[in-house]
Amino acid sequence: MAKITTATLLKMKQQGEKITMLTAYDASFGKLFADNGVETILVGDSLGMVLQGHPDTLPVTIEQIAYHTRCVRAGASQAFVIADMPFMSYATIEQTFQSVIPLMQAGANMVKMEGGEFLLPTIKALTERGVPVCGHLGLTPQSVNVFGGFKVQGRDADAADHILQQALAIQEAGAQLLVVECIPTHLAERITKALHIPVIGIGAGAVTDGQVLVMHDLLGISSGYIPKFSKNFLQETGDIKKAIAKFVADVKQGHFPAAEHSF
Ligand code: KIV
Repeated sequence: MAKITTATLLKMKQQGEKITMLTAYDASFGKLFADNGVETILVGDSLGMVLQGHPDTLPVTIEQIAYHTRCVRAGASQAFVIADMPFMSYATIEQTFQSVIPLMQAGANMVKMEGGEFLLPTIKALTERGVPVCGHLGLTPQSVNVFGGFKVQGRDADAADHILQQALAIQEAGAQLLVVECIPTHLAERITKALHIPVIGIGAGAVTDGQVLVMHDLLGISSGYIPKFSKNFLQETGDIKKAIAKFVADVKQGHFPAAEHSF
């Protein structure tokens, strides 16, 4: 696969080609996903739940994300790799500068941060210094204790308008990608149409410019609560490579997510 860059992703949005993203945490899966047509790999702080077995993502550290980013990069030299910034690793701009160094040096092409207004100066400062940023709005799992659970966000008109305004402001600050998680499909559609940067959804309907899934959900190996937006592609195909190919094809053709995976 040719090297994927922020320019590739922007062009895909402009040309109406859906972008695929899976989480990966090691070289083997990173390579498998990149070799089988997945354009972007997220070293998500979901690793706190699916690798470490915690009930949420809060215990994850920068050192752990840097370690797993280095592993993924070792397996997938051409992939577009996004490293997640863990809980409270970007509370101030100075702290953020220190936090991104090990992630970019581990081979990340971009860092992802959860939140709205408070992040705007940080996004601007990082972008100006050569660090591409992916925003993350809607259900931002690091705020699970504020939300009182993993709950769909933006259901009422005011909350929806607020998320849309945050999305526009994040783009204005310089973010080059945005993840929206667990929001109603009609809101995801408004955001996707309003933004010129690609919008990647999870639990946001098939209307976004691309889709991301946690790899353990794709393979049906997550334990405990299975979110409504996830789909076990391995069960349907019986083979890991076929499961990845089916995910890619279903996203590209707009067949995944279906209404049953959306809000
Ligand atoms: O940590 C993660 O895997 C994520 C995705 C669910 C978007 O943030």
